[in-house]
Amino acid sequence: MKKQINPDLLNEAAVKLKYMWPDYKVQCGIILGSGWGAAVEDFHGLEISYDKIPGLGKTGVMGHAGKLLCTEVDGMSVYIFQGRRHWYEGEGWTPVILPIYLLNVMGAKNVLLTNASGGIRDDLGPGSLVAISDHINNLGSNPLIGPHIPGLGTRFPDQSEVYKKELRSTLLKSGADAEGVYIATSGPTFETPAEINQYKSMGADVVGMSTVPEAILANAMGMNVAGLSCVCNWAAGISEHPLTHEDVNRTAADTMPRMKSTITNFLKELARGN
Ligand code: HPA
Repeated sequence: MKKQINPDLLNEAAVKLKYMWPDYKVQCGIILGSGWGAAVEDFHGLEISYDKIPGLGKTGVMGHAGKLLCTEVDGMSVYIFQGRRHWYEGEGWTPVILPIYLLNVMGAKNVLLTNASGGIRDDLGPGSLVAISDHINNLGSNPLIGPHIPGLGTRFPDQSEVYKKELRSTLLKSGADAEGVYIATSGPTFETPAEINQYKSMGADVVGMSTVPEAILANAMGMNVAGLSCVCNWAAGISEHPLTHEDVNRTAADTMPRMKSTITNFLKELARGN
């Protein structure tokens, strides 16, 4: 299996989406983790199942196909990808970064990436909403490894401000509790306590298994990136209990009303500036 981005598949997906929605011009995109659909349940519009988008369709570990919702918030057109593919699924980079590519070709200038994470910093316990200020790529790889594809940005993209300052302020105004540095690990294992100690000394505030590849590509393509992380558990070693996916899901569900209002406020704020 080839891990590198497959440009033919990206193009095929873009052509299919443009064929389905020939006139659609997107202003903002959101990528929600699997199970975060309730955060956008008040938004309605056209929906496309991931099955219908070449390169995205396989369900992987999500258990069910995700979907793309095309909606409007105060006159601003928004594409919401509900469900994301992860590097740990082992299917290569194409399904992981495809939503970003599609948002870019459909014209989106801004993208909000959301995720669940484990809290490392003392003040970021379960239920905290963190505006990502920067990231550490600890995936052991990078989606842009491989022959340079000019349509995806320069060969050596600058990363001095991946998460745009202005969007971080908007997130804080919209309901996020604090800013913090997100470290991405490949997963699918949770971390060991020794790894969390190491990440803490590296400057990481929260830890998760997603978002960084999408942020790398969106930044390389010149998009404005925002990241909102919901801390769902104390990271390993800080937590007194073993970590389980079920506990993560439970905290995510408890925090959903705040996640929902933060996302909605953020979109309304962006729409006002458009
Ligand atoms: N580690 C990695 N990913 C996560 C965690 C964690 O503690 N919690 C939610 N996603």
